[in-house]
Amino acid sequence: VEQPMTTTEGPTTPTARSQRPGERRPPAPTRTIGAERYTSPEFLRREFEHVWSKVWQLACLGSDIPEVGDHHLYEIGRASILVVRSAPDTIQAFHNVCLHRGRKIKTSCGNSAELRCPYHSFTWALDGTLKEIPERETFNPLDDARLGLLPVRCETFHDWVFVCLDADAAPLSEHLGPVTDILEKYRFDRQYKWWSRTTSNNANWKNGMDAFQESYHARYLHPESVAFANNVDYPIWFYGDHSSYVIPFGIADEVAAAQITPNWDEALDAMEWSLDAFGEDTSMVAALRGLNPPEGTSIRDVAIPGIRPAMTGAGFDVSALSDDELIDDRHIVLFPNVVLNIFAFGYWLFRVRPHPDDPDWTTWDLWYFHRVPDAMELPPNAPNVEVPAGESVGAVMDQDLRNIPHQQAGMKTGVFPGFVMSDYEARIAHMHDVIDRYLGE
Ligand SMILES: [Fe+2]
Repeated sequence: VEQPMTTTEGPTTPTARSQRPGERRPPAPTRTIGAERYTSPEFLRREFEHVWSKVWQLACLGSDIPEVGDHHLYEIGRASILVVRSAPDTIQAFHNVCLHRGRKIKTSCGNSAELRCPYHSFTWALDGTLKEIPERETFNPLDDARLGLLPVRCETFHDWVFVCLDADAAPLSEHLGPVTDILEKYRFDRQYKWWSRTTSNNANWKNGMDAFQESYHARYLHPESVAFANNVDYPIWFYGDHSSYVIPFGIADEVAAAQITPNWDEALDAMEWSLDAFGEDTSMVAALRGLNPPEGTSIRDVAIPGIRPAMTGAGFDVSALSDDELIDDRHIVLFPNVVLNIFAFGYWLFRVRPHPDDPDWTTWDLWYFHRVPDAMELPPNAPNVEVPAGESVGAVMDQDLRNIPHQQAGMKTGVFPGFVMSDYEARIAHMHDVIDRYLGE
């Protein structure tokens, strides 16, 4: 599969804008992406068989299961995986299936000293070894060694716990590859989850992923963003199965600015509204109010010189971040199902999971993180909140999650001939190329 711009070390964010950004993106894709990839139950089945059963997936955070005996239930397709803290510094994963008659052992996250199936009380130790079979003398002789819980590969990157159903897959570090170098700069070891929601929407998981790997739509679906984010000037990088772009923040959108130039206060209003839509602190925006800089001065021109001393003074070592990285949105898609918007102050993580049978249904996990000062202990994670489909998960995410089902419905009309794509959308084609590779096509 051709990868038109495969780099491990992308250019840094340019400070001089408007340098024909299309040249820093792969060409507009020419491949075919038809509706059946999004609407066909058979295609979904093949994805489970060849993609989801083979690829490393973020199951939970180590900090979600801080105590020995804490377990997190990660379910993907038909697979049900129990991620268990079996010792203070050990996390293991098992198929959540009782080896007696096949019942799921756990049906939710929780804590228990041992893993006991409620049906007949077959019990395993936290490390998966068989502990007890009630009334064992009524069975034929049993080999305990063959009745340990079925292990699932489990590896971590800092606090992230990944699982993989394929015994032959390359290690996690190889799967993540150079992406980890980027994450290290932002100190992913020093972030805690302060907001957590799970919701769902009526669309295929890839329509969800696609919406979060192009920013072409921002001018139209998120019109407030044009005052403070340049969704024209984003370079694209491919990192193996993954991809990235950087959205310059604190500068007006070039296409929109050609028609209307927001003034200083309007730009700050828009930035404040958007940060607030993610529950973020807007004090930085407030600090910029009333400055009335000369016309043509961007928010980034004024903000960048202040961010480094402010963060350093508050106990954050940001020496690894360039000036641009102090304000820009570093966007990464971890194949297959994690979207990251990374800032100097923290990051937003969106994870999508397809429904086991229904190509029109996606579960969304939205986890937002803040970096804490280097000398401070990490606070505990916020508990997860279930939000019914269609209810609000923040005004900007609502714009996206409520839009996508209409795309799914349009695809199902039977007349849609397939995508045409701009170079803004090159990452979508890349993801489908990767899927095809897993499918053996
Ligand atoms: Fe969007």
